[in-house]
Amino acid sequence: MGSNKIKDCFGSFSSKPIPVFQITSITMQKLCLSISFFICFYLLSFAQDSKRFPYRNAKLPVEERIKDLISRMTIEEKAGQLNQLNGGVFTGPAQSDPGQKAKIQQVKDGLVGSMLNVTGVVETKAIQKIATEESRLGIPLLFALDVIHGYKTIFPIPLAEACSWDLPGIEKNATVAAKEASAAGIHWTFAPMCDISNDIRWGRVMEGAGEDPWLGGLISAARVKGFQGKLDDNAHILACIKHFAGYGAVESGREYNLTDFSHVALWNKYLPPYKAAVEAGAATLMNGFNVIDGVPVSANKYLVTDILKKKWGFKGLLVSDWASFQEMIAWGYAENDKDAAMKSINAGSMLDMQARVVVKYLPELVKEGKVPMALVDDAVARLLRIKFELGLFEQPNKFSNEEREKVELFTPANRQIARDAAKKSIVLLKNDNQILPIQKSVKKIALIGAYADSKDDMFDFWIAKGESKDAVSILEGMKLKFANHAEISFSKGYEINAEKNDALIAEAVEKANGAEIVLVNIGISGKMAGEDRALARPEIPENQIQLLQALKKTGKPVVALITSGRPLILTNVESLVNGMLQCWILGTETGNAVAEVLAGSFNPSAKTVMTFPYDVGQIPVYYNHFQTGRPVDSNGNGSWRSRYRDIPNKPLFPFGFGLSYTNFSYKDFKISGIETTKGGKVTASVTVSNSGKFDGEEIVQWYVRDLAASIIRPVKELKGFEKIFLKVGEQKTVNFTISDKELSFLDGEGNEKLEPGRFHIFAGTNSENVQKLDLDLK
Ligand code: NOJ
Repeated sequence: MGSNKIKDCFGSFSSKPIPVFQITSITMQKLCLSISFFICFYLLSFAQDSKRFPYRNAKLPVEERIKDLISRMTIEEKAGQLNQLNGGVFTGPAQSDPGQKAKIQQVKDGLVGSMLNVTGVVETKAIQKIATEESRLGIPLLFALDVIHGYKTIFPIPLAEACSWDLPGIEKNATVAAKEASAAGIHWTFAPMCDISNDIRWGRVMEGAGEDPWLGGLISAARVKGFQGKLDDNAHILACIKHFAGYGAVESGREYNLTDFSHVALWNKYLPPYKAAVEAGAATLMNGFNVIDGVPVSANKYLVTDILKKKWGFKGLLVSDWASFQEMIAWGYAENDKDAAMKSINAGSMLDMQARVVVKYLPELVKEGKVPMALVDDAVARLLRIKFELGLFEQPNKFSNEEREKVELFTPANRQIARDAAKKSIVLLKNDNQILPIQKSVKKIALIGAYADSKDDMFDFWIAKGESKDAVSILEGMKLKFANHAEISFSKGYEINAEKNDALIAEAVEKANGAEIVLVNIGISGKMAGEDRALARPEIPENQIQLLQALKKTGKPVVALITSGRPLILTNVESLVNGMLQCWILGTETGNAVAEVLAGSFNPSAKTVMTFPYDVGQIPVYYNHFQTGRPVDSNGNGSWRSRYRDIPNKPLFPFGFGLSYTNFSYKDFKISGIETTKGGKVTASVTVSNSGKFDGEEIVQWYVRDLAASIIRPVKELKGFEKIFLKVGEQKTVNFTISDKELSFLDGEGNEKLEPGRFHIFAGTNSENVQKLDLDLK
């Protein structure tokens, strides 16, 4: 540590309480004089302080303040700013933890720049006080947390929310999460996750926006805008795009595993959502645990320096993932902690989350000339810029507000927004003979399934400060909604994570026999979704299938309500039931949202953003695949073709699929305009009508295929959509403008290519059910 004792001059900067004067024997005049004297002294010392230490002067431009502050920092303090320490529950493996006392000492010593997992006004204020009043330079801390789908009011998991395709709604949900988290002292969320994945075995698909790069970009951008706003108040927080980049490609869906893909895939499939989120103004990014070209992404210069900093001109902050710098040792890329710190910082990475290798070794690496000081200063400046711009030097507790924490969390208004989001996330997968919505004439409903009465299982993963006791279970929601219409009889049917239970099945069958319709809540707990929750068999457990088989035999109409944090293999369920609602993990308002959909007060409109495979053996299976040199025939057959001999190639439910209680028909698909590569503009249009019996929303989807190009292109790529509301009998013509950007692609170096030739333009209700027209680009 440096020796100049600047801290001692900081009386006026610290938030020490101003003494309270008592009006007793002092005359009013004396009192006024004393106050004036005190104010003058306070202002004078502040002015002097600002003069001597320009970084404390809020009137100076931020860049000047940064420069001044950096010039005063020792290399140890700079390394300290790059050190992010865990201060609460562990959201990664528990490496040797220095303990609370040592952590506080490190904050005092200026060896910590930000903390994760410290929450609440009391805690954040206490630690901020130590940082700003007891460290030499008084630099405030940033507090970060995984606010993934809400802080106290819990929203649907991001994957479910994405199925709404409702960009303004998604933005609003993030705004609410930011408002709640910021009131409790949080400056920074580790969201949104922009990883594209085609593998439902990977538990983290729950955190993303599905499999499509373009839609993923729009959704990530909406989330960034919602979290951050303009970052000019205390109700928005910094977003963090993760995991940069390509972590969604983990082999076999196994967490923390290898990723290995081409540069064409990197540019066209994996990078677009991060880029869209960077362009939306994301203040920060996070490295991943994966590797690209055999180099861990935390130390991948091509990714971090060449693409992120240079090509995209990203000016914000990059934080490692939990100990990802240090994990390069296990990957066999770094020899030891010091080597890991050197390789990460030299590649352009910046903050070290939890590994503490930077704070420990950066000073000697710089002294030995192994890491340039300019790189360190750049990283520190980026962090300080954020702190200055948030106004934390002037108001260290701007985000920690007792009053707001009391009144702004879990409000009825926030819950209403969460409820809307939950309704819009539910995907109707099957509805034979219009079994749903439940008819008003139905008087007896059997609700079966342990999940329907479990608040805990509908909540996790990443629930910040959400409490399951506050959630509405499906049983509660149904009882409330149907209180005046129908009797709900509940039975468990199975035990979660257990073998078949004959007694529970018998009881369920009895309830089913006494009902007019049977609702069965099956699935996998939310606790099995998220990080460290890879599943080799993402399927409905056997004991639940046995229950469904028994219920089918009753001859009653059966509707499956599927609780899960990812698409599951539902092929064996589909044949046993008449209706299927994919209910995901919907958060606080689960029961109310599901009940509204079942009752028909909300007509489902969501469309899945991730393919539901027919069989686990198909994985990875996705709509924007390549045709191969030996495609199957129109029936999916053929010899010596690219196909399975035991199962179809087609998934059970394709990307973009989701039914409504009404029917939509598509007609008059046309293309008009100038078809040229030089800024030509073509408009496609299609007329959609509501030919069913309910008002409803349809997500009209536009896809493009480039039939021959210098790099093979997918069989379809989503390039446009519109969510429209149509009353019964109403119709609307929907337009799609096709310009260069819809028809171009990126080569392996990230250069945009627009090549003349034939394209197909598709319009339809999902990625399979489309109409097609040709477009010849000249
Ligand atoms: C590890 C996860 O990969 C990352 O997404 C998360 O933000 C951090 N841990 C912090 O909890």
